Amino acid sequence: MRRGPPRLFNKKEPEMTQCCIFDLDGVIVDTAKYHFLAWKEIAGELEITFTEKDNERLKGVSRMASLDILLSLGSLDLSEERKSEIAERKNKIYLEYIMKLKPEDLLPGVERFIISLKEKGVSIALGSASKNAVTILRQLEIESLFDAIADGNNVNKAKPDPEVFLKAASMLNKNSNDCIVFEDAIAGIEAAKAGGFNCIGVGNPELKDKTEYIINGFDDISKLEKIIERIDTENIKEKTQC
Ligand code: BG6
Ligand code: MG
Repeated sequence: MRRGPPRLFNKKEPEMTQCCIFDLDGVIVDTAKYHFLAWKEIAGELEITFTEKDNERLKGVSRMASLDILLSLGSLDLSEERKSEIAERKNKIYLEYIMKLKPEDLLPGVERFIISLKEKGVSIALGSASKNAVTILRQLEIESLFDAIADGNNVNKAKPDPEVFLKAASMLNKNSNDCIVFEDAIAGIEAAKAGGFNCIGVGNPELKDKTEYIINGFDDISKLEKIIERIDTENIKEKTQC
């Protein structure tokens, strides 16, 4: 049991983490499998071989950039018009899966963790490449937990560009070093780092080459608090050295 007032995430302490920005796909809910099924159907129609390993390359990447990767696997060069039609069709297939999502599909512990952050005064933002982000949050019944939503509809540059995270931080009037980003994709970690954010990798052991902070998931809040305490300590050290 914690003694005294919570040391972490204290809004009154400017050096402490003030905002947590969550990627959506792979951090809050596992939609990668539905992206895969939808792209696999498209790949079949285009006679392109597309495996789960190939799908890893699409994680965190925008819809059109994902299509470009798929087409490059089949060495196909299509007109912009044809590409838009295919992307639209892929999204239609994807949405059929997404509309079946329910609160039970939230990844274990993530909702409880977000609620615990909010209780400590930490602002919560979404930083996702998806244009379907709000639909997904509504299906999961957690839209109201977010103080800001930056997604594929209000940014121009896809991860690994930091735009989506910078947008989320600016919506909350925060600096990047006051925020922690939670990400499962390499492109997302690169985006967070490029924007000057602290970043915790979620679920994918390969991320350890990209960030020193890795968690398996959100089940272990005490481990998460320890990591965040370390990040805060580093931040305080840095700020007091300047
Ligand atoms: C990201 C996914 O969150 O959203 C990518 O990791 C996906 O795989 C991207 O391509 C865009 O999603 P949407 O919903 O706009 O097609
Ligand atoms: Mg992701």
